[in-house]
Amino acid sequence: MTNAAITGWGKALPPSVLSNEDLESFMDTSDEWITSRTGIKERRISHVETSDMATIAAHRALAAAGLEPHDVDLIIVATCSPDTLIPSAAAYVQAKLGAKNAGAVDLNAACSGFIYSLVFGANMIRGGTHKRVLVIGAEKLHYYMDFTDRTTSVLFGDGAGAVVLEPTDGDEGLLSSELGMDGDASESLCIPGYGTRGDRVADAPSEVGVRMDGPEVFRRAVTMMGGASVRVVEKAGIAFEAVDILIPHQANQRIIDATARKLKLPSERVFMNIGDYGNTSAATIPIALTEALEQGRIRPGANIVFAAFGGGLSWAAAVLRWGQRTEPLGTSDVDFPPADRTTLELLQPNFDFFGLEPQ
Ligand code: UT7
Repeated sequence: MTNAAITGWGKALPPSVLSNEDLESFMDTSDEWITSRTGIKERRISHVETSDMATIAAHRALAAAGLEPHDVDLIIVATCSPDTLIPSAAAYVQAKLGAKNAGAVDLNAACSGFIYSLVFGANMIRGGTHKRVLVIGAEKLHYYMDFTDRTTSVLFGDGAGAVVLEPTDGDEGLLSSELGMDGDASESLCIPGYGTRGDRVADAPSEVGVRMDGPEVFRRAVTMMGGASVRVVEKAGIAFEAVDILIPHQANQRIIDATARKLKLPSERVFMNIGDYGNTSAATIPIALTEALEQGRIRPGANIVFAAFGGGLSWAAAVLRWGQRTEPLGTSDVDFPPADRTTLELLQPNFDFFGLEPQ
């Protein structure tokens, strides 16, 4: 049966860095607390829109696959922070890329969005309706960050990653997957007033920032992400020892460690870059996959486990067998424009809107 394999990959990380020390300068937190509770040291703050980051990552992924934008027939952008609700971020990406032969759609499953999109894209290829699918995870989460709330605003960052899916008759490709949702727990991670449910006039700023019951999400994440990872390995029909690398959603180092323990994986077979970028929601996995390839952590034929959880509360996991090629066919020189403001200047609209008093 025709399967879908990843043939191109790329990431786009905005240049502006927000470190734990920077956070210490304007809120009641500490590098020690953030590092020990989450593993995060710094995150990126974007001076361009979500679709701009997505487009840069897409150019790089297409170059790695040796393809041109007009070769793509479907673009899926996993995001919960699109430039606008109408049109979708995917519509902007399609235009900015010049992918004139592609349909384009956003998918919102919060932090699980990339795996959801990967599975949807792969199944379009398996079903025979599409041949070259660009799957992108892209987020500009700092837009929603209420820095008067230290329990959530220290966790998230901006960035994008992309992969190209193409048909294959080899034994590489998507081997198994699980997509789940625990909608009853949706209030434990949400932006309550952003959407038709909100009151455009009366809503307080606190209603349009991310609200999260961290410990509750943590407990469920360990159960959902760990359980789904085990089940997709069993479904793929491979032994646990045959898992070469776990590329998990990067939300909290302790959650990743717990997932790895469920799979009985030693730390050298777990990819972690949360220290550098924090939680970029749907973008964490394609960024991590790209960095794993750059660091030579993916060998030809590797069995990769992807696992994620997030708002919804959603979860997703998949096993993908890598092909023979671990080097990009080409590179793209498309890059970010220079940032014209400092990182703290980029955050000033958040401080003004959410009412952060200078310390
Ligand atoms: O992609 C899905 C996104 N969601 C997640 O990743 C959330 C999963 N949850 C978590 O990662 C963790 O629950 C957090 C990192 C959010 C919080 O860690 P925790 O160990 O569950 O801490 P906590 O919320 O139980 O808070 C413990 C203490 C509290 O102080 P008191 O009440 O014990 O005095 C908090 O006020 O830590 C305090 N605290 C902070 N202190 C310094 C909370 N945030 C901070 C902070 N800096 N940024």
